[in-house]
Amino acid sequence: MANKLFTAVAAVGLLAAGAYIGNKVGQDNSHVIVNDAERFSSESSTEALSSNARFDSSVGASGSGQVWEVKDGDSIQKVVSEAAAGDVIKVYPGTYSETVYIDKDDIQLSGVIVDGQWPVMEGLKKLNDAILYSGNNITVENFRIQHYKGNAVMGQAGNNFLIRNNHVIDTGVYGIFPQLGKNGLISHNILSGIEDAAIYVGMCDNIHVSHNEVFDSVAGIEIENTRDSIVENNYVHDNTGGVLVFITPGLPIKDTVNTIVRNNFIVNNNTANFGAEGSIVAGVPAGTGILNMAGDKTTIEGNIISGNKNIGILITDHHNAPNLSLDPESEPHSDEVAILNNFMFDNGTDPIPEIKALKALSLMNGPVDILNIGKSSNSCILDRGQYPTVGLDDYGTCGFTDTAEVKTFLLDEPAPKREIAAADMGKAAYYGVCAGCHAYNVRMIGPPTQIIQALYMDNPGGIVEYITNPTKKREDYPEMPPQNYLSEEVRRAAAEYMLSVKKVWVNSENEEKMKKDMAKAEELEAQG
Ligand code: HEC
Repeated sequence: MANKLFTAVAAVGLLAAGAYIGNKVGQDNSHVIVNDAERFSSESSTEALSSNARFDSSVGASGSGQVWEVKDGDSIQKVVSEAAAGDVIKVYPGTYSETVYIDKDDIQLSGVIVDGQWPVMEGLKKLNDAILYSGNNITVENFRIQHYKGNAVMGQAGNNFLIRNNHVIDTGVYGIFPQLGKNGLISHNILSGIEDAAIYVGMCDNIHVSHNEVFDSVAGIEIENTRDSIVENNYVHDNTGGVLVFITPGLPIKDTVNTIVRNNFIVNNNTANFGAEGSIVAGVPAGTGILNMAGDKTTIEGNIISGNKNIGILITDHHNAPNLSLDPESEPHSDEVAILNNFMFDNGTDPIPEIKALKALSLMNGPVDILNIGKSSNSCILDRGQYPTVGLDDYGTCGFTDTAEVKTFLLDEPAPKREIAAADMGKAAYYGVCAGCHAYNVRMIGPPTQIIQALYMDNPGGIVEYITNPTKKREDYPEMPPQNYLSEEVRRAAAEYMLSVKKVWVNSENEEKMKKDMAKAEELEAQG
């Protein structure tokens, strides 16, 4: 009662103050430019920007063309279809329930925020994807994207992308997912409620992921089969696993090299795993701060890693991972890992039984911050005394203390467009689109390609028909999103390529599961 009274009095006080402010200083000063020459002269800041702070000039759209406006009730896709390279599409607050495909270069898709109101892309849990782009130099910014089933923003072989200031909530399997892109910046986004990876960088090069907040997802930030990337200044909390750096075997890009994970907050990633059964991330134990699996030259520096109850940093290889088959073209170990100074505490308080067993073997009693399982060559740790560790005996002491000399791996100039010859169209579509969910003999989001080959042997037409309008076939898999945004020609080429992909290795660690899936495939085939 006393509390309520106090609130009421305070509210009256605030109202009075508001009225006062309204009368006294409430004039519109929005036209007044406020300079502070002492602190921020625009001259010196331009200098600072052009020297090194401004490293993002090679990504995103040019904004050099016509400006289009999209208002509540209009269709974003309609305008995208009419726009030309260089154009800016401004989307005003409103609710847009649609999927937008950007298949041309240099398009800036910018939400306009008015009085704190954002444009909302609303999937209603019926639509698969909010934004799919295959063009180069695409900017996507200032959107609230929610309730889709597949992806919020997915890139398919587009280079020089810029994805920033988006609020992504419960968009299904992935949040922001550039695939096969070179040179891209993902910054200042907030993502939550994603079943697989909130930010998923797949088969990319020269990527910068900074200043994002990711939480309540299975994987926070995932760097997969990607070269030269930096993950920095992100707040990664309350996921199952915080930051994952790894190689998925069976994809055309065979390595993950040169990842810097620095200055992130990686905190309390203890959410129970809700990933699709059998997917790679479904094997990530809850409570894992950073997981490096087969990634080479990963440098971990300056992070605050705390409250991850399984382990702070886990370095492992393909031999020790569930749900995986080996690819002879992918080196399965985590080599040349460097653990520099990080601030780690309160990790490893409740580890999984496997880690408990390893601890027992190494006679370690208390909680462990860092664990290495499997072979790791030429790896190092700067100051091993500051963390309780297990399995790092082979690690040397790093001969360097920081990564300060590397501002970014983004390029100075935009990467040239990926040229795709007509003959390679099927391959490009397969690896750019299908391989996000289908690997050769590994279950990912969709069934392995090997299973699909058994089902559709000489029948690419059947695949085209299915992917144009997929029906639900398997209880234990999610629905496959329709691929009818791809032209008939591209769908056909992808289907033919899918049937021609060769088994390049045999060494399957999850043969039992494969056998079950094969039996299921035969059963489905028998049913017609
Ligand atoms: C977002 C993930 C995703 C993408 C991208 C994707 N698929 Fe799938 N696909 C699935 C899932 C999930 C299933 C299983 C659906 C089921 O059984 O209900 C599936 C099943 C299939 C099947 C099996 C149909 C059957 O009769 O059992 C074929 C064929 C197929 N996909 C082809 C493709 C091709 C070709 C592409 C690329 C153009 C592609 N998929 C892209 C997720 C995806």
